[in-house]
Amino acid sequence: MSNDSILKTFLVAFLLCVVCSVLVCMAALVRIDKEAYNKQLEIRKTVLAAGGFQQQIDDGGNIDELFTTNMELKLIDLDSGEFTTAVDSVTYNQKEAVSDPALSEAIPADLDVAGIGTRAKYAAVYQATNGDLVLPIRGAGMWGPMYGYVAVADDCTTIKGFTFYQHAETPGLGAEVDNPRWKAQWPGKQIFDNSGALALKIVKNGRMDPNAADAINTIDGLAGATVTGNKVQGIVRYWFSQHGFGKFLANQKAKRG
Ligand SMILES: Cc1cc2nc3c(=O)[nH]c(=O)nc-3n(C[C@H](O)[C@H](O)[C@H](O)COP(=O)(O)O)c2cc1C
Repeated sequence: MSNDSILKTFLVAFLLCVVCSVLVCMAALVRIDKEAYNKQLEIRKTVLAAGGFQQQIDDGGNIDELFTTNMELKLIDLDSGEFTTAVDSVTYNQKEAVSDPALSEAIPADLDVAGIGTRAKYAAVYQATNGDLVLPIRGAGMWGPMYGYVAVADDCTTIKGFTFYQHAETPGLGAEVDNPRWKAQWPGKQIFDNSGALALKIVKNGRMDPNAADAINTIDGLAGATVTGNKVQGIVRYWFSQHGFGKFLANQKAKRG
């Protein structure tokens, strides 16, 4: 075929297009893969941080290695409060389950103090090798949904760590929920009192009395962001109620002795 032939010109242009399309698709796939991996890495980092591994992360520890050696993903049935294998924990996506009628349930209005309307039937939790439990929490903030984790010690009541990894609160105000200084108050606090009733509360900034009998259950609120503090209180109240992780933690406490 002559180099001046129109057919050859079209053929070369066509082949060039095919090669370029394949290259662009491959680049997009690599990018999607990398984005998915980075997202997974962030979640792993958050779970590890909530689970008390912040120092190892700061020391440059390998996140994947720390995660796989210290954390086990498990699903719990929130209604029975027991671990479940009803669905595959590896493919289960709790965020997506919320909008799947088969995998979610409506929260009765009087119990919906976190302002979420619906919750997944199964919660994806992480159990650390030392027995600590890292539990996912979510609820309405002042400006949008907030997603986080609370880590609870083997006694099923002492907080080991607390973090929100996604929210829309205002920088300098509600977004201080992410400030390590504010989060540092949480470890050591007790979620339940001796009778097993929910006792953890967030008081208005400056009203926390470290000498009060209930100091072990009290978190000092955020300065200039009482609304967000109240939202976090609602989230805590819901997720540690009988409709949230209350049954599961009571069951675990009884089993662990
Ligand atoms: C633009 C704007 C953004 C705000 N963002 C927040 C917020 O993210 N969280 C919050 O609690 N309060 C926020 N506030 C303040 C609340 O309206 C309210 O004044 C505050 O929560 C009261 O807290 P205080 O009693 O500690 O002052 C915001 C106010 C304005 C004007």
